Amino acid sequence: MAERILMSSPDVTQAEEDAVVAAMRSGWIVPLGPDVDAFEAELAARVGVGHGVALSSGTAALHLGLLTLGVKPGDVVVTSTMTFAATTNAIVYTGADPFFVDADETTGNMDPELLRIALEQLRSDGAHVGAIVPVDLLGKTVDYTAILAIAAEFDVPVLADAAESLGATHRGRAAGSFGQVSAVSFNGNKVMTTSGGGMLLTDDEGIAQRVRYLATQARQPVTHYEHVDVGYNYRMSNLLAALGRAQLKRLDSMLARRREMRELYKDVFRQVPGVEIFGGADDAEDNAWLTSILVDRESAGWEAGELSAALAADDIESRPIWKPMHLQPVFAHHRGILTGTSERLFARGLTLPSGSALTGPQRERVFESIGRFLRGR
Ligand SMILES: Cc1ncc(COP(=O)(O)O)c(C=O)c1O
Repeated sequence: MAERILMSSPDVTQAEEDAVVAAMRSGWIVPLGPDVDAFEAELAARVGVGHGVALSSGTAALHLGLLTLGVKPGDVVVTSTMTFAATTNAIVYTGADPFFVDADETTGNMDPELLRIALEQLRSDGAHVGAIVPVDLLGKTVDYTAILAIAAEFDVPVLADAAESLGATHRGRAAGSFGQVSAVSFNGNKVMTTSGGGMLLTDDEGIAQRVRYLATQARQPVTHYEHVDVGYNYRMSNLLAALGRAQLKRLDSMLARRREMRELYKDVFRQVPGVEIFGGADDAEDNAWLTSILVDRESAGWEAGELSAALAADDIESRPIWKPMHLQPVFAHHRGILTGTSERLFARGLTLPSGSALTGPQRERVFESIGRFLRGR
């Protein structure tokens, strides 16, 4: 049987292997070193911000971002319901109370008008809103123009969850450069990877310094291990930073492969009634991390789950779009402004293999499987 095709597997070459071996031979096999420093500088320059702090995960970047923005137990943090659990987990780690905002129908991203309603409601309830955490869903940025204006009006800082959107832009400006702080992820399934890792990006030098300090167990600069704060062991290993640097050099070509896959899906589904590519037409700014389709059962005559089952039978991975956080048993007791949009997207959406490492024959297998399914309807 042919090997299983995954939605987004790591795309590594000889260049990455050489970089990791060189870092290993350099002796810097610790969570600091020249590759960490260079990776931070190179990614910050690519995104156009002053500072990057390389960390062990995107979740760590979210957690420390919230702490350095001053989020504390009892605060409310307003966030997208349509996201991966890591966003909400990081909020809960701080002791704050997540408040979910439903999605815009076209992009699945936080609806700015609902954000305004949420902030008005929370203000009249007397709640202290510590931060807003909008999430760039599947590689398409939120409407930062609208969201940052509303945040400024209510005087609330923004931590942008750009875990999925590295390489995307909003009105020409890079994802990862919005808000007081942004968090990106280099998990194995992202557009570029360090196997596991993340980075906090900011223009605020004080925030960057504080995050670096908290991420290294909050050690005071003395020899005898003095601590005045609770710290975390969240720094990125130098070996993984070397891998990240090699990936960053290939980022544009990897993004081009994902965009190519998006175009191929568009060609396949253009003629299929009841199916649309999720995310709207404006995808020049999208990094095409994952391509999803929305299936309208009435006009298609089939539903997303049936295509998913057909792909699974051919050993090809596909999944629904994120299950909204307000539907998750662990988070269902938190409040939100909910309209049903994210639930509809969850019910109708299917995410398809989108990775840049997919070979020609693997792509063919995916399209043959989809073709067979469609012909059989
Ligand atoms: C929206 C979102 N936020 C945060 C994360 C967490 O990143 P990491 O896996 O690097 O901790 C991810 C992905 O894993 C994500 O998709």
